[in-house]
Amino acid sequence: MNFTEIKDLEDTFQLATYKKMNIAVERGRGSWVWTSEGDKYLDLYGGHAVCGTGHSHPRVVNALKEQAEKVLFYSNLVYSDLRARVAEKLVSVAPPSLTKAFFCNSGTEANENAMRIARLATGRQKVISFSGSFHGRSADSISATFLGKYRDLGKPNVPFHEMAEFGDIDSVRSVADDSTAAIILEPIQSMAGVREADPEFFNELRLLCNDLGIVLIFDEVQTGVGRTGNWFFAGSDLAGGVEPDIVSLAKALGSGVPVGACLVNDKVSAAIKENDLGTTFGGGMIAMAAVLATLEAIEEDEMLSNARKFEMYLRDSLSGVKGINAIRGRGCLIGIEFAESCGPVHAELLQNKIITGTSSDPKVMRLLPPLSVTIEEADMLTAHLVNSSAGVGTAVQ
Ligand SMILES: Cc1ncc(COP(=O)(O)O)c(C=O)c1O
Repeated sequence: MNFTEIKDLEDTFQLATYKKMNIAVERGRGSWVWTSEGDKYLDLYGGHAVCGTGHSHPRVVNALKEQAEKVLFYSNLVYSDLRARVAEKLVSVAPPSLTKAFFCNSGTEANENAMRIARLATGRQKVISFSGSFHGRSADSISATFLGKYRDLGKPNVPFHEMAEFGDIDSVRSVADDSTAAIILEPIQSMAGVREADPEFFNELRLLCNDLGIVLIFDEVQTGVGRTGNWFFAGSDLAGGVEPDIVSLAKALGSGVPVGACLVNDKVSAAIKENDLGTTFGGGMIAMAAVLATLEAIEEDEMLSNARKFEMYLRDSLSGVKGINAIRGRGCLIGIEFAESCGPVHAELLQNKIITGTSSDPKVMRLLPPLSVTIEEADMLTAHLVNSSAGVGTAVQ
């Protein structure tokens, strides 16, 4: 089928949900995808922040092929040597206090379970989240989401959710009390426009949670699995070394195979008993094969240091470019803040076969490339931005 036929068929038989780019992806490798028309695109949006190891990393592909020959699936009703090894491996790269994993299928499900674990562990109900937050589209997660456009989709929202200002500890203090089960936050608010908070904020949050017996949850659906140049934001210098009680994960965890997880500390896991949590597909063998190969690929290909290199290179090469106000974010989660709306630049880049992301802030373009992105690939973007006809470019200082 050519693109027009594919688009017609999909628009006819699939509910209209996302605003799609006018391309049909047929195959991918590393930072590149090829379309139905044989065109090659540089994917600096990493398949929607999912393909951290790059598209179809050979290690992941081979692991999936091998596993598919053995057994596709069995649930948590049985033991599995693969699931055991994946849980051990994931815990081994996590901050030391996070000692157990719970596997599920997506980011929203990881957050639903993180909040449930917090309520079970504290016997309390209230959850505090932040202005600009996005935690997913199922009932509890969308109710913890304070990006209005999304939160409103979840109406009627689940009760016992309250909002504090991101990065403002006094605002958190004004809503946190001894009825609060959890404080949940994205340590870098990606969808809101790659908004960051100081390490000091995370330290103060940790102390406040300790004082009031509140469970601290980092939603690392985007920042986790190497994205910031650290295995996790939790415990890194970016967080001032702070380790939350729970980290939720998804997106890049399975390199494209749907899988989510919660990593929890001993204090919290002691409160969980049989039948408190569950999901049929969580921890299935295909997903587990993808996770193990993903973690090994990140390690073997030294992708954490590569993600940091990408950030530094971009900061250097875009500093002083006319029309760009700031570079935000860490590693391979970058927000480029333009002086004006980034829409025209985003469209122009797509015309030039470079895929980037937008955000809820019209001026902020998001980059979430594979952690294996090269300097040559980064250069393709910067060359366009420096020579853009869409209002940015040249005149470096
Ligand atoms: C920070 C964050 N949390 C949760 C989610 C929800 O993940 P999923 O779409 O896998 O349910 C997303 C998705 O974009 C996200 O960015």
